[in-house]
Amino acid sequence: MEVLKNNIYPIFDRMLSREDKESLLGQRGVMVWFTGLSGSGKSTVAIALERELHKRGLLCRILDGDNIRSGINANLGFSPEDRVENIRRIAEVGKLFVDTGIITIAAFISPNNQLREMASSIIGKDDFLEIYVSTPLEECERRDVKGLYARARKGEINEFTGISAPFEVPEHPALSLDTSVLSVEQSVRRLLDLIIPKVEIKK
Ligand code: ADX
Repeated sequence: MEVLKNNIYPIFDRMLSREDKESLLGQRGVMVWFTGLSGSGKSTVAIALERELHKRGLLCRILDGDNIRSGINANLGFSPEDRVENIRRIAEVGKLFVDTGIITIAAFISPNNQLREMASSIIGKDDFLEIYVSTPLEECERRDVKGLYARARKGEINEFTGISAPFEVPEHPALSLDTSVLSVEQSVRRLLDLIIPKVEIKK
């Protein structure tokens, strides 16, 4: 039996496999990883995508910045170190869902390539679809749904992504969606075209 450090004995070899779960559900698991600025539309598109997949009989789970940060990651802030830990935990949790055959939709700023690569390597790059919500900063700031950009400009929030902390544009996303140009329906249509062939099990 494999023994890891600290006397941990993983029992994954005796548990039912991912394939068992996938054939039960009649779908394959995948991680749909949204990255983009605060206010870019990640959550809105994620929620609309989940509804469309659900309508087609596909089981999904959304993991979203504000929800995760008020629960499992409530002890983390926005320093570079905390952002790494935030994404590391989300990727580990996300992997559990993907390994259960679930279409997992993550919506986090995940502001640099190193973070996104860490997530991809935890989950496995074959199961990782990187979606860049490329809505420009000016548009995110104009929307300012949560009023956070105004506060960041006044210096009331430190290390705010796009204002006082960096956002690195993804190099090779599977898809880019600019929600200042595309409607939610148009974005979802493009996502469905990408995702459905990946999750379908041919009968
Ligand atoms: S990430 O950078 O660690 O991936 P995450 O997606 O979890 O960020 O959380 C981003 C959300 O936290 C934003 O949409 C915003 O509502 C809130 N927030 C609060 N402070 C900050 C900050 N300094 N930088 C970015 N987002 C912040």
